Amino acid sequence: MEEIHGSGMFSATFSSVLLLLLFGRAANAQKSLEFFDLLPEDPKLYDKMRPPKKDGQPTAVYFHVTVMGLDSIDENSMTYAADIFFAQTWKDNRLRLPENMTSEYRLLEVDWLKNMWRPDSFFKNAKSVTFQTMTIPNHYLWLYKDKSILYMVKLTLKLSCAMNFLIYPHDTQECKLQMESLSHTTDEMIFQWDPDVPLVVDENIELPQLQLVKNYTADCTQVYSTGNFTCLEVVFVLKRRLGYYLFHTYVPTCLIVIMSWVSFWIKPEAAPARVTLGVTSLLTLSTQHAKSQASLPPVSYLKAVDAFMSVCTVFVFMALMEYCLVNIVLGDSDAPAAKPAPPPPPPSSSTADSAKLDKIFDIAAKKSPAGPPPGPTPAQKARIRALNIDRFSRFFFPFLFTVLNVTYWIMFAEYI
Ligand SMILES: *[C@@H]1O[C@H](CO)[C@@H](O)[C@H](O)[C@H]1NC(C)=O
Ligand SMILES: *[C@@H]1O[C@H](CO)[C@@H](O)[C@H](O)[C@H]1NC(C)=O
Ligand SMILES: *[C@@H]1O[C@H](CO)[C@@H](O)[C@H](O)[C@H]1NC(C)=O
Repeated sequence: MEEIHGSGMFSATFSSVLLLLLFGRAANAQKSLEFFDLLPEDPKLYDKMRPPKKDGQPTAVYFHVTVMGLDSIDENSMTYAADIFFAQTWKDNRLRLPENMTSEYRLLEVDWLKNMWRPDSFFKNAKSVTFQTMTIPNHYLWLYKDKSILYMVKLTLKLSCAMNFLIYPHDTQECKLQMESLSHTTDEMIFQWDPDVPLVVDENIELPQLQLVKNYTADCTQVYSTGNFTCLEVVFVLKRRLGYYLFHTYVPTCLIVIMSWVSFWIKPEAAPARVTLGVTSLLTLSTQHAKSQASLPPVSYLKAVDAFMSVCTVFVFMALMEYCLVNIVLGDSDAPAAKPAPPPPPPSSSTADSAKLDKIFDIAAKKSPAGPPPGPTPAQKARIRALNIDRFSRFFFPFLFTVLNVTYWIMFAEYI
C-alpha cells in the first residue's frame, strides 16, 4: 500500500520538476548563474591577477573582524588563540551583474574566487590557522548590487604575542592580530577598516588569568625594500588579574616569613626546634618560588614576583642566621658554665698566671666563701645577651618586613 503511494508521489514530483525545467528554460528568472555571466563580455579582458584600480587609485579593501573568542593564552610559548569572523569587502567594477538582480545581494559559489581577483591578505603573526569544514566549509561570498564583493570566513587562529614579564604578575600584555597584503604594494591595494563597524569583540570573553581591558584597531603598514605593504591590526590589551597570585603566592609567602619569626619566641637552648623551623620555612619558600613561575618561560631578567620572593627568602635566611648568632653567643658561655660545678683546681696544677689571678681574687673569695656570687655568672650573662638578640629581632624583623612590603605594594600600586 505504502509502496504504491510512494511511487505515485515520486512520479508527481518528477513531472513537476520536468515542468519547472521546461518553464525555467523559457523564463530567465529561473536560470542559474554561471561564473562566465559575471565576467565581461570578452572574458580575456578580465585579468584576475590585476586589482580593479578605478581611476588609477589603489583598490580599497574594507575589513571587518568579529572576535568570538580569545583563549589559550600561553606565557611559555607566548601564543594565544582567537576565533574570528573575518570579512573583506572590495568593489570590482569589471564584473557584470546578473540580469535583473532585484535583491540587495546574491550568494555566489566560493570556488569562483579562484578565477577572480581577490585580496591576498595573510595573518602576519599567525602560527597556525584552522579553517573549519563542518558541516560545510565555513565561508561565503556575496555579490552586492553595486558590484561589491563580500568574502566572509570563520577561522581559528593561533597567534604569537610578544610578552614582557618585567613586572609580572602586575603586567599588562598587548596581543595583536595582524593582517598584511602578501604581494600588493600600497600603490595597488590598501586595506581599510570598515567605516561602520570595524571590530566587534564578544562581551562575554572570560580568560582565567587575564582580563580584556581594551580592544582597538590600528594600521601597521610596513615599509620593505620592495615597497610599502598595507597592513591592519587588532590590538587586545590584556591585564593580569592579581587575585590568583594574591592567594596562591603573596599571602602564603608572607605567612611563611611570619612563621619563621616564631623561632624568636622559642628559648635559645631549643636548637632542634629553632633550626628545624628555619630550614622548613626556607624549603617551603623555595617550593613557593618554583610554583610561582611554573607557567612562565625562563626569562633572564628579574621579575617583580622574583624580587618579592628573593626578599622573603633573605628574611627567612636571616632568621636562621639570627639563631646561629644566638647560639654562638650562648655557646661561648657553655664551657665556663660547666666549670663552676667542680671545685676550683688546686693552685699546684695551675700555671703561674692563673696563680696570680687566684691571689687577686682570693680576698673576694674569702669574703663570701659559701654564698653565691653577687653578679650573674658568665653563662647567665651570655644567656641574657642571647635573649636580648631575640628580643630585638622580635621587633626588628616584623618592622623591616612591613616596611619592605609597603614599599613593594606602593611601587606596584599603579599597575593593580
Ligand atoms: C529584466 O528587466 C528588464 C526591464 O527592467 C526587462 O525588459 C527584461 O525582460 C527583464 N529580463 C528578465 C529575464 O526578466
Ligand atoms: C571593545 O572596544 C569597544 C570600543 O572601545 C568597547 O565598546 C567594547 O566594550 C570592548 N569590548 C570588550 C570585550 O572589551
Ligand atoms: C612608503 O612609505 C613611506 C613613509 O610612510 C613614504 O615616505 C614612501 O614614499 C612610501 N613608498 C612608496 C613606494 O609608496
